[in-house]
Amino acid sequence: MSIMNIMQLITRIETPEPWGEGEKIPWNDSGFSERMLEYHLTQEHDLASRRFDIIDRHVDWIHNKLGGKPSKILDLACGPGLYSNRLTKLGHSCRGIDFSPASIKYAREQAIKEEVEIDYVLEDIRTADYGDNNDLALFIYGEFNVFKPVDIKRVLKRACDSLKEGGLFIAEPNRYETVKHVGTSPASWYSSQGGLFSPKPHLCLMENFWDQEKHVATTRYFIIDAETNNVTLHASSMVAYTRENLEQIIREVGFKDIVFYESLSGGKKDLDKNLEVIEARK
Ligand SMILES: C[S@@+](CC[C@H](N)C(=O)[O-])C[C@H]1O[C@@H](n2cnc3c(N)ncnc32)[C@H](O)[C@@H]1O
Repeated sequence: MSIMNIMQLITRIETPEPWGEGEKIPWNDSGFSERMLEYHLTQEHDLASRRFDIIDRHVDWIHNKLGGKPSKILDLACGPGLYSNRLTKLGHSCRGIDFSPASIKYAREQAIKEEVEIDYVLEDIRTADYGDNNDLALFIYGEFNVFKPVDIKRVLKRACDSLKEGGLFIAEPNRYETVKHVGTSPASWYSSQGGLFSPKPHLCLMENFWDQEKHVATTRYFIIDAETNNVTLHASSMVAYTRENLEQIIREVGFKDIVFYESLSGGKKDLDKNLEVIEARK
């Protein structure tokens, strides 16, 4: 994130370097994370987490993958714990890691309210402790692509190391075409009386870039405060992976038996055309 004025916006560098102006939207900022929590929990859309009926079907599928056997599960970037909570109620033991303060606070409160024991950790998954002897590591809902290649490789390697022999890894990256579409979309804007990026009246100007050599989409969000005219810049980059690329990096860190699925319910029923599911074993 950086703060600038409107003249600095006008004279900005034409094309940013991937991750050069920021890595991702500010999930870990306390105000942003509180506003984002509403997006996770609403049953009106699937922008940050899916609606509960879809998550229920995903959880059934994941539970069946484990043969219904009580298992030790690592939930990477768990958000407000919507998967870990349900999996724990099915008899599994979960550790959920996320660096969004409002999400982890909500997840912990829910666990207390529903009297389930879940180990929620408020930390960056690039450095957090993944534990060991896990039966399953989950990495759900698209955040996979937002990490720099060097960081995602480290996350994948550590996830693999944390599993038992034969343990399962299930991730849900964005499809190549989804990421390319983001990067090649025209600039756009909206006005808001108060929303995700600011609780105050503001304009949000967005512009997108596609780096065909690196296969990376970058989005800039300029948030212009209506009262002060101060501009806050957030930027986020995403790598577009083909299935071949995904297979290669997953194998490189020690996984095998790679299978792709159309959705986290296995088939086309809950197809999200932006995402695909990759499963692998240690
Ligand atoms: C699209 S949400 C998905 C949340 C959850 N998996 C779900 O499906 O409900 C992405 C999540 O990734 C988390 N996240 C992003 N980067 C992270 C990082 N470096 N460390 C920990 N959490 C991260 C965000 O805080 C957010 O909760």
